[in-house]
Amino acid sequence: PHHGGPLHSKTNRWVGSAVAAQHLSAEADYKKVLTREFDSVTPENEMKWGTVEAVRGQYDWSGADAIVDYAKKTGKSIRGHTLIWHSQLPDWVADLEAAELKSVVRKHIADEAGRYRGKIRAWDVVNEAFNEDGTRRETVFQTKLGDDYIADAFRLAHAADPKAKLYINDYNIEGLNPKSDATYELVKSLKRKGVPIHGVGIQGHLSLMYDFPQGVKENIKRFADLGVDVAITEMDVRIPLPVTPEKLKAQADYFGNVWDACHAVKRCVEFTTWGFTDRHSWVPDVFPGEDAACLFDENLKPKPAYFRLYGKK
Ligand code: XIL
Repeated sequence: PHHGGPLHSKTNRWVGSAVAAQHLSAEADYKKVLTREFDSVTPENEMKWGTVEAVRGQYDWSGADAIVDYAKKTGKSIRGHTLIWHSQLPDWVADLEAAELKSVVRKHIADEAGRYRGKIRAWDVVNEAFNEDGTRRETVFQTKLGDDYIADAFRLAHAADPKAKLYINDYNIEGLNPKSDATYELVKSLKRKGVPIHGVGIQGHLSLMYDFPQGVKENIKRFADLGVDVAITEMDVRIPLPVTPEKLKAQADYFGNVWDACHAVKRCVEFTTWGFTDRHSWVPDVFPGEDAACLFDENLKPKPAYFRLYGKK
């Protein structure tokens, strides 16, 4: 194909992208490509606590509502992102003592998951709970509420939206390593306790500066064997500048290898990228010297990585 997709027609998995409400309303070509290629969307920032309640008791659902409305009009599925995360967390939350923190967490999850009840296919309930060595990240939630904050968050989310699939989500858990081991053990223990957890979200932020992770297929399979779904939730592949044809080909291999690993496991149900165009990506702001991490270039032309996915099951 010269024109592009739809990519989602090439697979029976959900094929998603992160989306920003502001670009959706301001850029017709951005909206057109998103709508053509993908059948799922994840709000990039619009559902984060720091966006919806930056000031205690003052809610701003405008961006989230706009994306939910877009999804309804275009028939897209929605991945909610994210209920409990240490980052983009308002200071007023971080400053609370344990008892009050516990009660605002309850309220936040009830409010947000409740507002979109029945409209969200899957929620990233807890995001980035682990350190690289597999220990718990010392967030305000971990430090003040203890280990059970994760189980509690899943129970609260399930009560607020009983039909949504509830996920734990993290980065650097694509392959077999201490962090993915810890995620595996946590999911196993939550399942044993009857906590409503339904999936593991593997972010998939990769870079050509690092080797492709070891054991991606085996890792996806071991998660699935616990009786949960697996989703690739935020995939992108950063290129150390300058971009060359060789690097674009290597990028296509990284994307393709994850796509193939997901398709090798029945319960890997979603392949979502963190944005779709190099015109708008979090990468250059956060990783100086790297860019061009998406499937489409800044002019919305599909890149070799796109054709790699398009040509495969
Ligand atoms: C990023 C957004 O893309 C940026 O716009 C924002 O400034 C910071 O957060 N892991 C996640 C996402 O779970 O929420 C992050 O999104 C990227 C890393």
